Amino acid sequence: MELKEQLNLDKLPKHVAIIMDGNGRWAKEKGKLRVFGHNQGVESVRQAVEAAVEIGIPFLTLYAFSTENWKRPKLEVTALMEILVNAINKETKTLMKNGVRLNTIGDIELLPSSCSRLLLKAIEKTSSNTNCTLTLALSYSSRQEIVEATKHITQRVLDGELKIEEVDEALFANNLETAGIPDPELMIRTSGEQRISNFLLWQLAYSELYFVDKLWPDFNKQDFYEAIIAYQKRERRFGLTSEQLS
Ligand code: IPE
Ligand code: IPE
Ligand code: MG
Repeated sequence: MELKEQLNLDKLPKHVAIIMDGNGRWAKEKGKLRVFGHNQGVESVRQAVEAAVEIGIPFLTLYAFSTENWKRPKLEVTALMEILVNAINKETKTLMKNGVRLNTIGDIELLPSSCSRLLLKAIEKTSSNTNCTLTLALSYSSRQEIVEATKHITQRVLDGELKIEEVDEALFANNLETAGIPDPELMIRTSGEQRISNFLLWQLAYSELYFVDKLWPDFNKQDFYEAIIAYQKRERRFGLTSEQLS
């Protein structure tokens, strides 16, 4: 039976988040420069987005560039930005065809202006699409996001707009960049590394974590389905006992 047919369509996650890792190692294995792996990684992005659209997952978030990644060699950072520009240029049409709304989290102001301008244009162009919201985490740091939310809330308290008793989890979540997006039920990381690397720290509190050894450029639709099938076999207890759930 095909993997796709093994999916329980009534139990799909609403939001899948992916740490796309392993591009550099993929290239190195082939005796090529790291950039070659980043280029190839774009095809895997396409596969993941298509898979999400095909089965009807309304939110997909991809970790594309962390604030820490700015410290990589300049050549690599420049190449990554170029790849991003090319991908947006090339893929916006497909996003429109598939009804995908583009969104970003992170400080896109820090990207080269050619990049951020193009992103804003694609975000605007796809803004009425409703099949899937594709969020790219770019120049993103979850700790920074939490600090910014805290500052914003504190300012509102100081200005007398908000009472301290009104600060609760829902209000806090609404001040994060992911406001309006449900927490991911499933987080996938490729390349065998088992860490979060400053990604969605608040939002992943109760997510199922799925680590796969494949390097990102080798990740395809079937791998995406496999991750969801594995997720569907898990028992999410949210602190309760197994007996309480059944
Ligand atoms: C993920 O692949 C892409 C980015 C972080 C931009 P890496 O570039 O981290 O590849 P590895 O982990 O070094 O193999
Ligand atoms: C996390 O990967 C960031 C992205 C995938 C964009 P890294 O390769 O930067 O993470 P570490 O350094 O292995 O933790
Ligand atoms: Mg890496």
